[in-house]
Amino acid sequence: MVKQWLAGAALALSLATGTAVAQDTFKIGLILPMTGPFASTGRQIDGAVKLWMQQNGTTVAGKKVEVILKDDAGTPETTRRLAQELVVNDKVNVLAGFGLTPLALATVPIAAQAKIPEVVMAAATSSITEQSPWVIRAGFTLPQVTVPLADWAAKNNIKKVVTLVTDYGPGIDAETAFKTRFTQAGGQVLAELRVPLRNPDFAPFLQRVRDANPDAVFVFVPSGQGSVFMKQFAERGLDKGGIKLIGTGDVTDDDILNDMGDVAQGVITSFHYSAAHPSAANKAYVDGFKKLNGMRPNFHSLGGYDGMRVIYKALETTKGNTDGEALMNAMKGQSFESPRGPVTIDPATRDPIQNVYMRKVEKVNGELYNVEFATVPNVKDPMHK
Ligand code: PHB
Repeated sequence: MVKQWLAGAALALSLATGTAVAQDTFKIGLILPMTGPFASTGRQIDGAVKLWMQQNGTTVAGKKVEVILKDDAGTPETTRRLAQELVVNDKVNVLAGFGLTPLALATVPIAAQAKIPEVVMAAATSSITEQSPWVIRAGFTLPQVTVPLADWAAKNNIKKVVTLVTDYGPGIDAETAFKTRFTQAGGQVLAELRVPLRNPDFAPFLQRVRDANPDAVFVFVPSGQGSVFMKQFAERGLDKGGIKLIGTGDVTDDDILNDMGDVAQGVITSFHYSAAHPSAANKAYVDGFKKLNGMRPNFHSLGGYDGMRVIYKALETTKGNTDGEALMNAMKGQSFESPRGPVTIDPATRDPIQNVYMRKVEKVNGELYNVEFATVPNVKDPMHK
């Protein structure tokens, strides 16, 4: 029903306007969770989009770029409705944002129907880009950042692990990637625990971790939930119980890391971005972001910043041609130097190939940071065939 209605509306629209009428505005429909439990992701990406536009202007190949920001509060039904409205009423040229996997997935049929790019800035389940050729990702995937950590653990005297992940796409990706790689390297996974996405209570799961007594617990929680997890981890005394905490960098998210207190110190994570990444480009990025937005940028902000870069570059390459297919083709294969390091959008999978860094939480000038100590270069998502 909805599909038919949308197709009808799109047809009526193209008949009414005609493709010959040149549009001077290039519209980006940006859908983010600006309220609700995942609002930190929305704030970060919105701040990064604003920084990109402040630094790079609002005119590209003769077109005036307009960003239309919509708040989906993290609810897929709302994302879908907003995406539809942006396509039909606002006639956006690109849909972008998507703070969680279900929100990106809800938009896939709409972008495909409209034949416009869906630029995923945050959602990180590997399979999202496989759903349609109109999806392209500027952030990262969970398997991509997990595999280097499994290798590190196996080489650093960690033999028995319990995995504890949020029970939806990215968590299951992290669990699968960790277990596969770690057991191949001779490690053992004693238990695989999955915690609900909404209003999680980690306490009973942490009790099970303690009972299993592994060398380490591997954790994935989506950004925004790290402080609750760390608080409960410390309350149960696990930080002092000899069980190491390792995870993807979502748990020591730069947006909230500084408020976590001493419990976070020493936590080892793997990730594609740290606010402490030692490069001139990153220093300028962090300074610019803080000045504009009054907070430290986290990894999701980079998905927003580089997502805008990918869109701008595509429009430059097409010389202002807004045809969806032309834009998609101009997005695939882009290579650039990001504040996180070198990034290439794999033309085959439409996912970023990038460095993954091993990091340890340390106090630097009185603030907690994820300090990088090793680099695994040019990592591809290992799940795509
Ligand atoms: C996701 O829903 O795909 C997601 C959200 C937050 C993260 C990672 C993945 O930190």
